[in-house]
Amino acid sequence: MHRITLIPGDGIGPEVSAATQKVLRASGVSIDWDVHHAGTEVASLTGTPMPATVIESIQKTKVALKGPVTTPIGKGYRSVNVLLRQTLDLYANVRPVRSLPNVEKRFEVDMVIVRENTEGLYAGLELMILPGVAQSIKLTTEKSSTRIATFAFEYARKNGRKRVTFVHKANIMKISDGLALDCTRRVAKDYPDIELAEMIVDAAAMTMVKDANRLDVLVTENLYGDILSDLGAGLVGGLGIVPGANIGTEAAVFEAVHGSAPDIAGKGYANPTALIQSAVMMLRHIGEAAAARRIETALTNVYREGKIRTRDLGGTASTDDFTHALCDAVANVAD
Ligand code: NAI
Repeated sequence: MHRITLIPGDGIGPEVSAATQKVLRASGVSIDWDVHHAGTEVASLTGTPMPATVIESIQKTKVALKGPVTTPIGKGYRSVNVLLRQTLDLYANVRPVRSLPNVEKRFEVDMVIVRENTEGLYAGLELMILPGVAQSIKLTTEKSSTRIATFAFEYARKNGRKRVTFVHKANIMKISDGLALDCTRRVAKDYPDIELAEMIVDAAAMTMVKDANRLDVLVTENLYGDILSDLGAGLVGGLGIVPGANIGTEAAVFEAVHGSAPDIAGKGYANPTALIQSAVMMLRHIGEAAAARRIETALTNVYREGKIRTRDLGGTASTDDFTHALCDAVANVAD
């Protein structure tokens, strides 16, 4: 029995979380959920969108599955996601970019983007140095650059991937990106079985659109990773299907790439695939590879058959229809 923290989130969060719990149950994995709420409703009741009990739970269980949480723009509390990443030092953001059958896409893709999650231009070091002159500091440290490169090479080795492409702009930012490049080259020496490739970020964007599979595993700093991850989501059919994970040395939080989708919340037709694929990553993380494979195969089968599709992908199925079809397909996957 695994004890795992569940944050259902708000908007479509509770709908896609409930669907994901059903699919996990169908896979035969036994999970004791420690459910904690975060987001707008919690903030209106307690004054904070993320009570300390949420963090305490993840510190104990070490693993969380999280639905999306709304963040007010330009006012109010800080993003729950940023808070979680910083408090738990979830330094690696991992986004597999994989095509599914029958989903409109540019071409077949199977690559993984590993993004440094804690520094770069997201370190929050901004100031107005003079009226009309703002400065944002891009923080790059040897420690973080080395640990994200190590994470990417370890990930490649564990997942049978052959090449890690480091994406940078060291031709312009010679000191900051240059430091990260040096660290990555040093780390690569410990992984002779995996090829290191280097690519400038603008060329990486073009390569993703022309031939994403040349990249295999891509590792990069925070801002480039943020932008290229959404490019990746666009390549394979959009927000409803792309999973993600935030991983640290002490804890890991698995969540879809999409937000709380207030425009369709409560209507019962959100696509739960992205959170389900995040749960598949979670299963691998906790050593339940067989159950992960079962769900992944079932998901591919449901998409290949193409009869049950949610509205974001041009179908008419509700969240429940899709979930039932997937649970049946999970039961029919041979071990
Ligand atoms: P969004 O991802 O919630 O929605 C963008 C569009 O995609 C909407 O039309 C929505 O209906 C559609 N969509 C998203 N997920 C879908 C799904 N699973 N099935 C079907 N359609 C789906 O992005 P938006 O509108 O920019 O953000 C809404 C809120 O979510 C904001 O407050 C934002 O801060 C928050 N957010 C939270 C995240 C998290 O908790 N990890 C991540 C991204 C945004």
